[in-house]
Amino acid sequence: MRILAVSGSLRAGSHNTSLLEAAVEAAPEGVEVALWEGLGDLPIYDQDLEGTDLPDAVRRLREDWASADALLFATPEYNGSVPGGLKNAVDWASRPRLEAPLTNRTVAVIGASPGQFGARWAQADLRKILGIAGARVVGDELPVTRAHEKFDVNGRLLDVELSERLRLVLETLALEAAPAAAAVAA
Ligand SMILES: Cc1cc2nc3c(=O)[nH]c(=O)nc-3n(C[C@H](O)[C@H](O)[C@H](O)COP(=O)(O)O)c2cc1C
Repeated sequence: MRILAVSGSLRAGSHNTSLLEAAVEAAPEGVEVALWEGLGDLPIYDQDLEGTDLPDAVRRLREDWASADALLFATPEYNGSVPGGLKNAVDWASRPRLEAPLTNRTVAVIGASPGQFGARWAQADLRKILGIAGARVVGDELPVTRAHEKFDVNGRLLDVELSERLRLVLETLALEAAPAAAAVAA
């Protein structure tokens, strides 16, 4: 079971990227989590670029997301919602409509912010957007509050309970994605 982890932040010291790095460590047996790093390379969605002139970065996005058994998103919250770059990636991955990488793809959403709410609004919006784009959104939100206190200076997770919650998120995601993964393997 291969899960691709997508951070909505491009920032070098991103708490959301650190959260996904912690997910790599917390993965249960039989589950491999790999970070996807193409977000910052994507052009702004433009329907005129669909077709033969599809940009390389978009081609990579579609191949990478389509070949994963499941996707785990960690989103920051910008002005009460999903960062524009992450929404842009979802828009690219929602096309072409009948063979889009997000169609029936099993996904889960987590998120971190330094405040008291743990990017709850962004997670709710991302779940909505992913669902409309055709993905199967599974599991609950995981709002990581006061994120700046949860990691050391090297971005390593300090909170054992949070590591356990990450493991549970991955277990649910892997369980939900297993039938589709088995069908592809057959
Ligand atoms: C443009 C912008 C808007 C923001 N808006 C919110 C917000 O609405 N709610 C919130 O909790 N944090 C907000 N923040 C703070 C982010 O949660 C914080 O910068 C966080 O660390 C970003 O995630 P990252 O560490 O993964 O980069 C905002 C930050 C920026 C740069």
